[in-house]
Amino acid sequence: MKTALLYADNLTSKDEIAKAAEILKNGGLVALPTETVYGLAADALNEKAVKNIFVAKGRPSDNPLIVHIAEFSDLDGIVSEITPEAKKCMQAFWPGPFTAVLPKTEKIPSVTSGGLDTVAVRMPKNDIAREIIKKSGLPLAAPSANRSGSPSPSTAQHVIDDLMGKIDAIVVSKNCDVGVESTVVSFAVNPPRLLRPGGVTAEQLKQYIPDLVIDAAVLSQPEKGAKVASPGMKYKHYAPKADVTLAVGDKKAFAEYCNTQNADLVICYDEDVGLINSPTVSLGFSADHKKQAERLFDTLRDVDKKGYKTVIVHAPTTDEMGLAVYNRLIRAAGFKVVQL
Ligand code: TXA
Ligand code: MG
Repeated sequence: MKTALLYADNLTSKDEIAKAAEILKNGGLVALPTETVYGLAADALNEKAVKNIFVAKGRPSDNPLIVHIAEFSDLDGIVSEITPEAKKCMQAFWPGPFTAVLPKTEKIPSVTSGGLDTVAVRMPKNDIAREIIKKSGLPLAAPSANRSGSPSPSTAQHVIDDLMGKIDAIVVSKNCDVGVESTVVSFAVNPPRLLRPGGVTAEQLKQYIPDLVIDAAVLSQPEKGAKVASPGMKYKHYAPKADVTLAVGDKKAFAEYCNTQNADLVICYDEDVGLINSPTVSLGFSADHKKQAERLFDTLRDVDKKGYKTVIVHAPTTDEMGLAVYNRLIRAAGFKVVQL
């Protein structure tokens, strides 16, 4: 398949935005920028189009998709109930990196919701994404625009590397601001449950959901065969081909560990760099979780590009956006975590 590259850095790229919307209306697949990561969009109500997303990504069909909307009124007909807490969070965090799981209506096909009776909904902040949703007049199902299992795409080049020739078009735009995927909260259970940490932090959510539960899969590997609330969390994910170990400990213990291991690469923080004998790449200052999130997926993709075979990563602390970075890293490490 020939993949069209549509260049759009802002809303003045009207022709490219119109072209993307037209392809989506005709049941095609378009990768587009959002503020979190690039998404691979299709008409959420068109079963055939949604099936093609799973094929292009090589994604297991039990892993449900997020439906993207441009306005609050787009929720009508998609979800059957909005709890007061869900409403407060939508008002506080939309448009933005926050996804609400709510009971779905009949209108949402089972392929989109992975066979569940709930649907995940998000209103992205990226203005190009929202303009494409508006122009298409459709709710758009959009998982991250990577091949299933590999790190999510935080730049257009990542999408080109993974999906060129497999989809109708890629909207080529700026790098994503947040760099990791949205925060997913289920309001279909009581109390609400954080299924995936992201750009909106647990601390921010607790202002509106004081009894928020952090799902066990956020910080550890789900038991084999366990029923997980968010199917995406059970897979090894974001993973380079290299053998990755996540090490938890302070900078002294971490440096001592690394200096006995001879890894090809150590992914760490600015404060670690001078203490480690192996080649290092820094994700930024240890307290700057925002920067770490922004750099994370590009750094993980680079591991394979450069052909490193063994990699040690210094675990971030799990406060604020550190929780999202930690959550991605345990999956990138295939749950191989050492406590120092
Ligand atoms: O930032 C994002 O959320 C990006 C951009 C493109 O919007 N999208 C994204 O989609 O990360 P995806 O498909 O890669 O991840 C969606 C996650 C998966 O872990 C999936 O299992 C979970 O959300 N999910 C979707 N629908 C769900 C539902 N009804 N119940 C529980 N979890 C759900
Ligand atoms: Mg994904």
